[in-house]
Amino acid sequence: MPLGFVSEVFWHSCKDNKFDMRILVIGNGGREHSIVWKLAQSSQVEKIFCAPGNPGIAEIAECLDIAPEQIHLLTDFAVKEKIDLTIVGPEAPLVEGIVDVFGKYNLQVFGPNKKAAILESSKVFMKCLMRKYDIPTADFRYFNDYNEARRYILSVSMPKVIKADGLSKGKGVFVCKSENEALSAIDLIMQDKIFGNAGDSVVIEDFLSGEELSLILFTDGKTILSLETSQDHKTIYDGDKGPNTGGMGAYSPVSFMTENLYHRIEKEILVPTIKAMNSEDRRYKGILYVGLMITKSGPKVLEFNVRFGDPEAQVLLTRMKSDLVPIMQATITGGLDNIDIEWKPQTSLCVVMASKGYPGRHVNGMEITGLNLFKDQDDTQVFHAGTRYNNGKILTNGGRVLNIVACGKDIRDAQQKAYDAVAKISFEGAYYRKDIGYKALLDK
Ligand code: AMP
Ligand code: GLY
Repeated sequence: MPLGFVSEVFWHSCKDNKFDMRILVIGNGGREHSIVWKLAQSSQVEKIFCAPGNPGIAEIAECLDIAPEQIHLLTDFAVKEKIDLTIVGPEAPLVEGIVDVFGKYNLQVFGPNKKAAILESSKVFMKCLMRKYDIPTADFRYFNDYNEARRYILSVSMPKVIKADGLSKGKGVFVCKSENEALSAIDLIMQDKIFGNAGDSVVIEDFLSGEELSLILFTDGKTILSLETSQDHKTIYDGDKGPNTGGMGAYSPVSFMTENLYHRIEKEILVPTIKAMNSEDRRYKGILYVGLMITKSGPKVLEFNVRFGDPEAQVLLTRMKSDLVPIMQATITGGLDNIDIEWKPQTSLCVVMASKGYPGRHVNGMEITGLNLFKDQDDTQVFHAGTRYNNGKILTNGGRVLNIVACGKDIRDAQQKAYDAVAKISFEGAYYRKDIGYKALLDK
């Protein structure tokens, strides 16, 4: 092929791409560390800023002293610094409408707008949408009156699952085996208001059993581009016991996904959801996280999130071969039909190291040692979540502190490598689950 032709093809495929992009990532968790880590490998990226970031992110990006909720300061920064693309990690700024504000300034920003982000900010909206459009999910009732919710609980059989309507950092779901548990859940949510206004209404739904699966996809509102599968470990204790957390570990891919199951999920859930959002004049663009229960009667939706999962992002991005930037740009501009994602064949597994007491009260400020053993490792990454820098030391600064992610030839290998790495890192009161990936091993 003559060189002139090759370069012309190259030019046509690249003329819309910049190769000196300035990117702003919003957030400060392990999810954002893995996003920044992945972006830093892109040939299109010249400089990454992160607001506010964390000490791990600070090694590869410039961290800013601006919180994710300070939308106007973020906008000013993006305008002044000529940011080419902003990526919003957590849900709170999306729900507050950061995408709408950035849009007014013609700033390119990745994520759904406020009208579409309601899919995560209101479980009542989410459940009613599924009911209206026949998308399979647990049967439910919702209440904004405490006494009515109480009467309902006393009239039905258990188990039931009770969910605060609004955002609650992954802690607003109570799986209740007895009437007493259900009554105390509505007391906490609706009377004690432990999640503030997020508890003005509750959803009470049927308990579903089966295998859980996180299916995360990019969509521009027309095309759906699913990522590989992953599975989170939501509860604090081994064997899926104890209260729910933001996520204690994950792995990818899951072993039970088949082509048939994927097609069923796509046909019964993914396509109808994107169409339903369009019909409601809430066109969805960004990452959609679909939490599923694969029940005996088929896949059912547990929840939607309007952003990458945490820690699912950490296992997915360490397996993704393709550049993230063109995928995100195509999501924004409506060109996802031209995009394919390439994956590494390995299994990736993430163990979350947390502070003692999480998801309840915990102390911060413990010195973390062993981190420098993991610089420049190909198959093991340490992503920071709740950490802070103080006088040359890295200290704990949150419930979920570190994410140790290892890639291996199979689940056993990835698990071994991840736990070997965990054993080399320490801080006072460090807690982690010892069984991440156990379900995949049961299938072996
Ligand atoms: P959600 O934030 O709605 O995904 O709920 C958090 C976790 O609670 C899920 O990952 C499940 O483990 C569990 N859960 C939520 N809804 C149900 C349900 N209807 N039946 C059984 N478990 C559920
Ligand atoms: N890992 C669950 C979530 O990100 O909500």
